[in-house]
Amino acid sequence: MVLIDEEQLDMPPSYGSQEYWNKRFTTEPEPFEWLEAPDVLDPFLRDAIDRSDDPNPALLHIGCGTSMLSYHLRTIVQEPNRIHNLDYSDVAIDLGRKRETELCNDERFEDQQCGCSATSECMRWDAVDILDHQSLLGACKPGAYSVIIDKSTSDCIACCDQVHIRLPYAVDAWSESPTNMDLRRSPEPVHPLHILAVHLALISKPRARWIALSYSGDRFPFIDGLYSSRPHLPGFPDTGTLWKLLDKREMQSEKEPTVDVNGDRVIHRAKTSHWMYALERTEMPLFVRGGHL
Ligand SMILES: C[S@@+](CC[C@H](N)C(=O)[O-])C[C@H]1O[C@@H](n2cnc3c(N)ncnc32)[C@H](O)[C@@H]1O
Repeated sequence: MVLIDEEQLDMPPSYGSQEYWNKRFTTEPEPFEWLEAPDVLDPFLRDAIDRSDDPNPALLHIGCGTSMLSYHLRTIVQEPNRIHNLDYSDVAIDLGRKRETELCNDERFEDQQCGCSATSECMRWDAVDILDHQSLLGACKPGAYSVIIDKSTSDCIACCDQVHIRLPYAVDAWSESPTNMDLRRSPEPVHPLHILAVHLALISKPRARWIALSYSGDRFPFIDGLYSSRPHLPGFPDTGTLWKLLDKREMQSEKEPTVDVNGDRVIHRAKTSHWMYALERTEMPLFVRGGHL
């Protein structure tokens, strides 16, 4: 049997596959930045930290990949151990942890006074699948985080296949009328961004901010006010009641437009723009069936 690489067939890469990311980070271990430079979200992150009820808020960086944003985040918090980096690629997590140890001796971090040395890491790093509630709860406590940082990770998750869940789902909203525990026997397909919204809501504090940078101006199906775009499944939370949109801005890319001369054809690459979303966690409580809360 001949195995043909996707690149050879000119197909788009499988951004929704864990295998794709592990392979990519193994062959390309150097830092790589999706969409924009690590400091592009600074004003929104600083605002989220300043407005937090917690004087020492916990930050969750989802799908950190090999972005330098993890290390840049250390410059905007008091204590780097309040930063928790997650990725489902254990290759990316191992690289990130190793790189932090190396950077701890770098003079750029001297003014951090975080007490770290070449042998002690400061930030938290965990290989976690954020679409799997058990994997997530193995590393993150419910109601723990004040700020979620998402640089193109929702874009990647939007490329995943539908998640098939059994109802009632393991994470649900409190309700006056108890859910029928024998709702359906066959798994229901749910768009992965709804699963992400429920999982992130579970581990966030009320009024926590989810700051996302995306290439899409229509990234989150649960914040457009359209009730019809949310799943109506008994035993699964209404994601539109968990997060509300505070701010959405189009941001011009810092990268300069390019002109390529290819034979006698001239290809102009126009300046691109991306979207910043600031979402706020509502007060709607969630619980985990059979434990944890
Ligand atoms: C488009 S890359 C963005 C990487 C980085 N945030 C950046 O800006 O360069 C998406 C990242 O999300 C991670 N990822 C995708 N699905 C995930 C999941 N279900 N759980 C955890 N990480 C995931 C991938 O491994 C990859 O590192």
